[in-house]
Amino acid sequence: MASRMAGSLRLLLWLLLLWPQLGADPGDAVTPPSARGPPSPKSETLMEEATQKPEVLPRGCGQRRIIGGQPAPERKWPWQVSLQVQGRHVCGGTLISSWWVMTAAHCISDFHDYTVMLGDTSLQHQSPRGLKVPVKDIVIHQEYLHLGVLFNDIALVLLSFPVNYSTHVQPVCLPSKFFHVEADTQCWVTGWGRTAEGGSESPPMDLQETTVDIVDRETCNLNLKAILQARFDVVSEGGLCANAERRGPCKGDSGGPLVCEFNNTWVQVGIVSWGVGCARKGIPGVYTYVAFYKDWVVKV
Ligand SMILES: *[C@@H]1O[C@H](CO)[C@@H](O)[C@H](O)[C@H]1NC(C)=O
Ligand SMILES: *[C@@H]1O[C@H](CO)[C@@H](O)[C@H](O)[C@H]1NC(C)=O
Repeated sequence: MASRMAGSLRLLLWLLLLWPQLGADPGDAVTPPSARGPPSPKSETLMEEATQKPEVLPRGCGQRRIIGGQPAPERKWPWQVSLQVQGRHVCGGTLISSWWVMTAAHCISDFHDYTVMLGDTSLQHQSPRGLKVPVKDIVIHQEYLHLGVLFNDIALVLLSFPVNYSTHVQPVCLPSKFFHVEADTQCWVTGWGRTAEGGSESPPMDLQETTVDIVDRETCNLNLKAILQARFDVVSEGGLCANAERRGPCKGDSGGPLVCEFNNTWVQVGIVSWGVGCARKGIPGVYTYVAFYKDWVVKV
């Protein structure tokens, strides 16, 4: 049942379009899958910070250094990273501690060697402050489920070595597990995803940003259920919906952040997960609701 439904829904979703591109190079498929197996070494940094400060972690997260009113583009989203395979951008992600990057589970496939680009808004990797770090291990949520739509779409990426923070490299804050975001809150989504649905336009080299408004989850679930003619709930408790005013997230934005500013601190409320087309006008995009997975993130 699930697979038949998945088949029909699949056509509508942009996230899967990612894989044929990657699979095209047969030289890719040499990573031993064992490298991806849980459990991963625990993040001491994350654990420590979590113990010290259970509500928001880590200390000094979610800050940007603003100089003269407007943050320079390359300092505006210092937690944004690009997850890459052989130098090619595949997904977004965020730095959550000096060792760990958070992304979407659907971004990960066993057969690739990943690297993480940090501190740069250009995929051409031009900033002297930017760096590329190989990935040591990846932990995918054990209940990640792909039924055409995605559930528990979250993964943590362990870097080969810890990064030093700078004006260009800063971790984002994670919400507490009791965090609740009100509908109509205005937040931001950033990424290197395509700027048009379908079409031949090549994806942008420079990091893009857009504002989104949080949408009530129940309403969104009913709305998307009807559109997808699904008989099951498509946006569960671990999901979050947001409407884009102009351009919604598209292929290549997956795994990247939906962040909101509270009291001058940026908190990652969502992870770009899936949408109908490229979050078409009036149809909300779906995000992983980070607060729901807070215990899991701290435990890994
Ligand atoms: C971080 O800073 C330390 C001390 O300056 C340096 O030894 C180390 O190589 C730096 N790490 C990275 C990843 O740049
Ligand atoms: C922001 O600061 C105000 C006043 O200090 C506080 O009441 C409020 O809870 C804070 N909001 C968040 C989201 O931390």
